[in-house]
Amino acid sequence: MTDSHAHYDDKAFESDRDALLSSMNENGVSLIINVGDNAESSKRSIALAEKYDFIYACVGIHPEHANDITDRDYDEIKELSKHEKVVAIGEIGLDYHYDGYNKDNQKELFRRQIKIAHEVNLPVVVHERDACADVLEILKDEDIGKTGGLLHCFSGSVETLKIVMDMGMYISLGGIVTFKNAKTAPEAAKHVPIDRLLLETDCPYLAPAPFRGKRNNSIYMYYTAEKIANLRGISFEELEAATDENAKRFYRI
Ligand code: NI
Repeated sequence: MTDSHAHYDDKAFESDRDALLSSMNENGVSLIINVGDNAESSKRSIALAEKYDFIYACVGIHPEHANDITDRDYDEIKELSKHEKVVAIGEIGLDYHYDGYNKDNQKELFRRQIKIAHEVNLPVVVHERDACADVLEILKDEDIGKTGGLLHCFSGSVETLKIVMDMGMYISLGGIVTFKNAKTAPEAAKHVPIDRLLLETDCPYLAPAPFRGKRNNSIYMYYTAEKIANLRGISFEELEAATDENAKRFYRI
């Protein structure tokens, strides 16, 4: 399996990071993309990619940091993106969930990082929370089809899914599809074209059932994959093969 979105640089993995990552291959996880959420975690993602053959990195600034960005941050992300194991700009996007966000700052941060992605010819990994219409507008406006995009942790409607597919994008699904109260994610799991779907954990967050609420890791992705395979009426092996291939195509690995 390929974990297309993980945060192993997070301090939640401080005590056992190397032991855990060293056990991935024997537990069926063959490829992991570690995603940055600011310049520092982007650097840590690259360090992990340098240490492990099967880890690649994304570099980018998450919208939650939009209120304290300087020009230097943009220069840094652009520089880091040139590393040979960096496969995308991310995670970037809009998040209107928590108090204190500034829409204009987030939009500027999002747009400028898409422009960097165009300049360095990398796809983008997009985070969207409570900001669907604005995210779609910017993706369209910035011509995302040119470099390619992945909407991670997708939880939009089937109508939104269609718009995203029409833009040539991919989606990734994680532990939420296994949650009892999940509605839109299982629908997306059924309706997304099989050649546009990736698996993810977003670990340490969003562990699938039966580990909901615990620290997540890529080995638990088996439960997510099995749930999606059931929803689609295909075998685990078929889903695994397709999602592995999609991840490699999207990230150009
Ligand atoms: Ni994430």
